[in-house]
Amino acid sequence: MHPARKIVVNQSLRAGKPLIIAIDGPAGAGKSTVARKVAQELGYLYIDTGAMYRAAAWLILQKNIDPNDQTTVAALISTAKIELRQAKDIDGPISVLINGHEVTAAIRKQAVTHLVSPLATQPAVRQYMVKQQQQMAASGGVVMDGRDIGTVVLPEADLKIFLTATPEVRAKRRWHDLANQGEQADINILITEIRQRDERDSTRAVGPLKLADDAITIDTDSSTIDSVVATIINYCQQV
Ligand code: DC
Repeated sequence: MHPARKIVVNQSLRAGKPLIIAIDGPAGAGKSTVARKVAQELGYLYIDTGAMYRAAAWLILQKNIDPNDQTTVAALISTAKIELRQAKDIDGPISVLINGHEVTAAIRKQAVTHLVSPLATQPAVRQYMVKQQQQMAASGGVVMDGRDIGTVVLPEADLKIFLTATPEVRAKRRWHDLANQGEQADINILITEIRQRDERDSTRAVGPLKLADDAITIDTDSSTIDSVVATIINYCQQV
């Protein structure tokens, strides 16, 4: 049995059918932690689509190819094998592999973070990722987080959540994450970078970060992770 799965008996889910849950929002809004915990509660699979884009960025850095050479990038990414594995430690991050390389920690480094946002604007990269993600979610029972999940990847999702938080709060969270990895950062630079990333992620031509018409917005500025998770589980029970 899947290590992250547990049986939940009191979900009032549509005709007992496992749900497809989309969680979108900007970087640092708490998506990954919230999505992972919701998946845990429901015994669902958690799919971190940001980790997939990050793994692609890692591969480009590793192969030392020009990220602006879209033809070479497309050829490299379209043959890459990206795997997301649930951690043995149920509270740990999911393990990410690309072409068999374990890159779980490496994809959180600043070098990858800087490259991934421009890379994610490339249509061929997005097309490949979206197809993979749709296949991963095909049988339901998934919580998928990203930027374009409710709008492009899974427009038919049973529940769409959009998490938000101010750039200042998100930068603080990022600062702590980096500190935990032994990386030092300037909070003001992080705020500027987050604003720039938001701008790029929301204005790109393909799959921009956008609130789906039928998404529920949850502001995470002053809420705990657990209360956001509880709110989402509550929405799941009403689907
Ligand atoms: O959620 P994250 O910070 O790990 O995402 C990394 C980058 O990937 C971020 O710049 C946005 C991009 N991304 C995307 O364009 N579409 C997604 N579905 C997920 C992430």
